[in-house]
Amino acid sequence: MGRPIALRWCLYFPIALVAVGQLGQAAGQTPSNPLTDAQVRDKASNLLRQMTLDEKIAQLSQLPGFPVPEFKENVSKTLEEILKQVGAGSVLWVSDPKEINRLQHVAVEQSRLHIPVLFGLDVIHGYHTIFPAPIAMASSWDTKMVEDAQAVAARESRAAGIQWTFAPMVDIARDARWGRMVEGAGEDPYLGAAMAQAQVLGFQGKQPGAPDRVLACVKHFAGYGAAEGGRDYDSSYVPEEQLWNVYLPPFKAALDAGVGSLMSAYMDLNDVPASGNAWLLHDVLHESWKFQGFVVSDAFAVRSLVTHGYARDYQDAVHKAFAAGLNMDMASGTYLKYLPMEVQQGRITTQQIDNAVRPILETKVRFGLFEHPYIDESHIEQALNDPTHQQQARRAVQRSVVLLRNEGGLLPLDKSGKTIRSIAVIGPLGDADTDLLTMWGSMTKPGPTVSILQGIQEKVGSAVRVAYAHGPNLRRDILSPFEDLPISVMKEQPAQTPEEIHRAVEDAVALVRRSDLAVLVLGEIDLMSAESASRASLRLSNSQEELMEAVFATGKPIVLVLINGRPLDISWAAEHVPAILEAWYPGSQGGNGIADLLFGDANPSGHLPVSWPRSTGQEPLYYSHNLTQLPETSPDFKSRYWDVRSTPLYPFGHGLSYTTFAFDNLKVTPTARAGATIDVSADVTNTGKRTGDAVVQLYIHQRAGSASRPVRQLKGFERVTLEPGAKETLHLVLGRDELQFWSPPLKRWVVESEQFDLWVGGDSTASLHGEFRLTE
Ligand code: NOJ
Repeated sequence: MGRPIALRWCLYFPIALVAVGQLGQAAGQTPSNPLTDAQVRDKASNLLRQMTLDEKIAQLSQLPGFPVPEFKENVSKTLEEILKQVGAGSVLWVSDPKEINRLQHVAVEQSRLHIPVLFGLDVIHGYHTIFPAPIAMASSWDTKMVEDAQAVAARESRAAGIQWTFAPMVDIARDARWGRMVEGAGEDPYLGAAMAQAQVLGFQGKQPGAPDRVLACVKHFAGYGAAEGGRDYDSSYVPEEQLWNVYLPPFKAALDAGVGSLMSAYMDLNDVPASGNAWLLHDVLHESWKFQGFVVSDAFAVRSLVTHGYARDYQDAVHKAFAAGLNMDMASGTYLKYLPMEVQQGRITTQQIDNAVRPILETKVRFGLFEHPYIDESHIEQALNDPTHQQQARRAVQRSVVLLRNEGGLLPLDKSGKTIRSIAVIGPLGDADTDLLTMWGSMTKPGPTVSILQGIQEKVGSAVRVAYAHGPNLRRDILSPFEDLPISVMKEQPAQTPEEIHRAVEDAVALVRRSDLAVLVLGEIDLMSAESASRASLRLSNSQEELMEAVFATGKPIVLVLINGRPLDISWAAEHVPAILEAWYPGSQGGNGIADLLFGDANPSGHLPVSWPRSTGQEPLYYSHNLTQLPETSPDFKSRYWDVRSTPLYPFGHGLSYTTFAFDNLKVTPTARAGATIDVSADVTNTGKRTGDAVVQLYIHQRAGSASRPVRQLKGFERVTLEPGAKETLHLVLGRDELQFWSPPLKRWVVESEQFDLWVGGDSTASLHGEFRLTE
C-alpha cells in the first residue's frame, strides 16, 4: 500500500524521487559507490530548500520510542503523527525490527519530503552476540580485535534496523566509585584514544554508508568520568590542562577516525552544563577540531539545563543548548516545542537552523539511509546467528580476562579428572547469564549466554564432577531505576533474611568440603556497575566476603573469578586466595572463554586498563600523576595516607600469563631535534614453557619544562605472540603526537627541548630504563 503512494507523491516532488526511487534496497544488499562530498552537499541543500521550519526542527529532534513523561509534557502528538506530519531526525529505544520497519515506512512514505529516520540504540559491545564489556575489551590491548568486534555489532544491529549506535563511550575514568567506568577504556588517554579509534572504524568501516555498518556516536562530551566523588551525573571540575591532555584525546581520536556524531554529556563542566557549553561544543569541536558531523544531547539533557540552574526555563534551555552548538535534542521534545518560538521571536535565525540541520541531512545521505532505509526481515536471523560471531566473542574473552594472581601456579587446572575429581562452583554469579552482559548488553537483543557453570561443565565433561551452590543473593541497597524500564531484562536478586544468608553460606561451604577445588564467582550483578550505579564502597557486597572467607577456611584450593565493571576492594583475597581472574562482564561466551582460560586451552593475556586500589579511600587513583613536593620516597614527611600505602594493589598495565616474559636490549635515539622522531627498540623473550601473548608497554617522563609532567605516561604498546624461548625485537616510534602536551602557562601544544626518561616492560612499573634528549 505504502509504495505506490510514495511513488505518486514523487511525481510532484522531484527531490524525493531521488530518495524514494532507491527504496527497494534494504540492509544486506550491495553498497553503491560512495557519494562525493559535493553530491552529499547537493542532496542536503536540495532538501533544505524545500523544508518548512517545522520540518527542519523535526530533523533536530530525536523522539523516544516509548512514552516518556518528559516528552509528553512538551509534545501531545503520537510518534506516528509526528513522523507523518513533519518527519523526525531520529527515533531511539525501539528495538523490534518489525516496529522499526513500520515506523520507517510511515516516515519515508507518508511524510511530505520522505526523509528517512535514523534509528538509534545503545549497541555498546554487541547487539545479539554480546562481546566483553568495553573495559574488558580495553584490557585486551588488541585494537584489531576491538575493531572486528564492533564490526560484528554493526552487522547485527544494522540487519535488525539500528543504523546509529551511541558508542563508543570514551570517558576517561579514574575513580572506580563511578558506575560507568565499565563502559569505557579506563584511566589512560593513550590507550583510550587507541580504543576509541578502533571502535569507530569497527562501527562505521572505512566507507560510510555500507549496508553492514552503522553510524557511531562518540560520548559523553566531555569530562563525565570526572564526576565529583564518583557520583554519576554530579558536577565535574576539570582544569583546561587536564581536559586537553587527559579527557579530550580519545574524542579527538574518534574524530580523526571519522566518527559521524557526538553526544554531549549530562553534567556541569566547570559550572557550565556540557549540553549548553559553547566552549566544548563550539570552540573545541568546531573551531579547533573542525568537526563535520552533528551533536546530539544525552537523554533529556536540554531540559536538564533548567534543573542545573543554568537556564531560567525550557525556552531559555533550548536557546542556550542550540546557541552553544547542540544540533539534536534527545527525547525531551524541548526543541520541537520551543525552537519555533525562538525563531518567531527573532532570537535564532533560519540560517542558524539550516546550519544545524545540514549535518544531520548530510549524515543521512552519507550513511546510506536514503538508499537503505528498511530492514530485509528475512535476512535478520542469518545475520544474528552467524556462528563466526560467537567464535569471535569467545576469543575476545580469552584475550581480555586479566590474571591478577596465580600463587604456586594453581592455574591452569587439570581437566582430565586425574588430579581434580570434583569442582564446586560457588557464588551468586556462578550460574549468571544476562548478568554477564552488562546493562547495555542485556538491553539490546542478546542471544543465549553461556554461564561460568555451564562453561566449566562443558569443558570437563564427565571426567570431573561439577556442582554448584549460589551463596547469598546480590542486591543493591538502593535499587536501580533501570530495572523497571520497558526494554530492560535486568533484575536484582531477591532480598534475603539474615537466616537465609547464613544458610546459603553454610550450603556453599558444605559443598566445598565435598569437593577437591572451589571456583568462587563473585562481584557485581549488571545493575551494580552501570549508569546510575555509583557506590561509596568498593568492597564485595552482600556477604560475599563472609562467603569467601568461609570457603577459604575449608582449606581447599580456591580460584576466584571476578565479574564486575570496576576494580573492587579485594585486599583480603589478594593475600589469601591463590588464583584470581578478573573477567569483567565477559558477554555471551563468558562461560566458555573463562573455562578455556581456567583449564589452559587459552593463556591469559589481558592487562589492566586501570590502577587497582587497595581500598576505596585511595580513589581517584591513577598511575600518571605528577610528582609531589614530598614523594613517597622522601625520608619522613611524605605525600601519603598513614593507614594504607600509596601504591595500587595491582598497577595499571598489570596482567599475568601462564608463561613469563623478559624485556631487555633497550635502544633509544639519544638526542633529536624537537619535532623529529625518537626510535625505540627492545627485545621481549618468552622465558616460560607455554606459548603466550606479551603486551609490551612504553612509558615516558619529561623531566622539566614549562609545566610539571606526570611521573609516567603510556606512549606506545604492542601485543605479540611468542612460543616458549622465542624472542622478538619490537620497534616503537615516539613522534610529535607522543611527545607534545598542552602547556597551561603557554596555553598551547608544545614539544619541549628537555631530557626524558623512558621505560619498556609489561606494566606501568616497568624497570627497563633509557633516556633521550630533545634539542632546539
Ligand atoms: C543516557 C546515557 O547516559 C547515554 O549513554 C545513552 O546513550 C542514552 N541514555 C540513550 O540511551
